[in-house]
Amino acid sequence: MRTEALGSIDSTSKEAARRAMSGDHGPLWLWAEEQSAGTGRSGRLWHSPRGNLYATFLMPVSDDPARAALHSFVACLAVADTLGVIVGGAAQAALKWPNDALLDGYKVAGVLLESGMGAAGRWLSVGIGINLAHAPADARWPAISVSGITGKTAPEVEATLDILSAAMAVRLRQFEEKGFASIRHDWLARAARLGEVVEARLPDETVTGVFETLDETGAMLLQIGTESRRIHAADVFFPGGTDAAGH
Ligand code: BTN
Repeated sequence: MRTEALGSIDSTSKEAARRAMSGDHGPLWLWAEEQSAGTGRSGRLWHSPRGNLYATFLMPVSDDPARAALHSFVACLAVADTLGVIVGGAAQAALKWPNDALLDGYKVAGVLLESGMGAAGRWLSVGIGINLAHAPADARWPAISVSGITGKTAPEVEATLDILSAAMAVRLRQFEEKGFASIRHDWLARAARLGEVVEARLPDETVTGVFETLDETGAMLLQIGTESRRIHAADVFFPGGTDAAGH
């Protein structure tokens, strides 16, 4: 797999978009040791000091934005597979809809999808941040690092990227050969708070309901009273947890 180390950069995902605009749609892994403008979902800052993993996978995709969006579940499974290797028995990763990975209820990794059209068709960038050595103290969701969980020295970034890149290749093949039903099945097996009450904060309202399932389009199905509601985009929180953050 083509992989490029960028050292210090604004953001591996911004670099991926620049590459795509100039005609290179990958497949290509871009990774950095640190980012000065790391970006999270909804344009939030992704604090990016040295020691954590910052990588973006750029790939050409067919011109179907809805199908391209399903790659976030593919990537989250690859992240969970990677955490399984580097964390071992210390904890098991759970996946929080739509695209966070948790260890012991704390956020350890996030995925950011971006897509666009270029001369060669649609491109997709899958930005992945994994807290290997450091976790931000002021995150919206309480965060932890892999070394914070294992109590050991953080895994090497490059070695972790090798594991992630191999896991991503396996999960992409699964998506291609078996379709989203198979990805959805595996994602649900690792879903955090499935069958339990969650709070979904949408841009103009907050709804609380039982997390029933993930549907075939990647939406979260919430049972609210007697109604079932499909949530396509939201920040999800867990009410009634062991602390104020609900984790
Ligand atoms: C989130 O949980 O909000 C998603 C975070 C994604 C962060 C990664 S780090 C590598 C890539 N480059 C970025 O600027 N963002 C993504």
